Amino acid sequence: MMPVARPFIGEEEINAVANVLRSGMIAQGPKVGELENKFSQLCGTKYTVAFNNGTAGLHTALNAVGVKQGDEVITTPFTFIATANTILMQGAKPIFVDIEEDTFNIDPEKIKQKITKKTKAIVTVDLYGQLCDYDEINEIAKNNELIIIEDACQAINAEYKERKAGSFGDIGVFSFYATKNITCGEGGAITTNNKDYTENAKLFRQHGRSKMTEYKYTNLGHNYRMTDICAAILLEQLKKLDFITNKRIKNAEYLSKALCKIEGIDVPIVKKGYKHVFHQYTLKVKDVFSLIWH
Ligand SMILES: Cc1ncc(COP(=O)(O)O)c(C=O)c1O
Repeated sequence: MMPVARPFIGEEEINAVANVLRSGMIAQGPKVGELENKFSQLCGTKYTVAFNNGTAGLHTALNAVGVKQGDEVITTPFTFIATANTILMQGAKPIFVDIEEDTFNIDPEKIKQKITKKTKAIVTVDLYGQLCDYDEINEIAKNNELIIIEDACQAINAEYKERKAGSFGDIGVFSFYATKNITCGEGGAITTNNKDYTENAKLFRQHGRSKMTEYKYTNLGHNYRMTDICAAILLEQLKKLDFITNKRIKNAEYLSKALCKIEGIDVPIVKKGYKHVFHQYTLKVKDVFSLIWH
């Protein structure tokens, strides 16, 4: 059987974990800080805050920008359930907008029709590894004073006009789950240029604890911390990211070249100027295949 995904783990990751275990600091510690710095460099943002998974990152992002009970948040229904669930966790209402047929990403034209006085934010999803149409979406957000949270959980290292995933919204969100392009088993991160969001996110990550050196809790929060074990794995994975990304792109090109010849199959499109990182390689099949399936 073909596995759904195969993590790219080598001796480097195993040694990095062993070093953390030997160090005696295995929860959130210096490796998490190091990872946050490296991740900001990758995405071209000022700040990164690491989490124990992408869902925690999404929840924290919505909380940091002030999404609350009674607010409406525009998003896509064609995504992993965490995108909508975390909106509900904040007591807000997800407002679903249909997708573009070719990219599977939220359709900017249709966003405009769903904006009301209650709309606070748009959660975009860079599905399968291709970025949304941020020229349009940012314009809409600016004209309507809306916040953008970019769910880039599937799109690490994706690009548009040489800008990286995670830098297009007010906050970007990533997942390092086992099937993602790089992984530590379970992990997540948010990226932003906003200092207040960063500080709020750091508080939310650990029960509102304002200083690691003191037992002082100023806000309500969760235990959403990443461990140094995970951060050490990710620091090694980051070194392999370009290799992994290029391999996925090459594999997708190879598949598309052959599959596009088969009638009734639409291969994935890559929009001009975009770097699609193929977290998933997805096909659209037409009615001609229904004869085989029934
Ligand atoms: C689009 C999207 N959003 C959110 C998540 C949630 O991430 P995690 O599984 O790390 O909580 C995922 C990944 O599973 C995802 O693909």
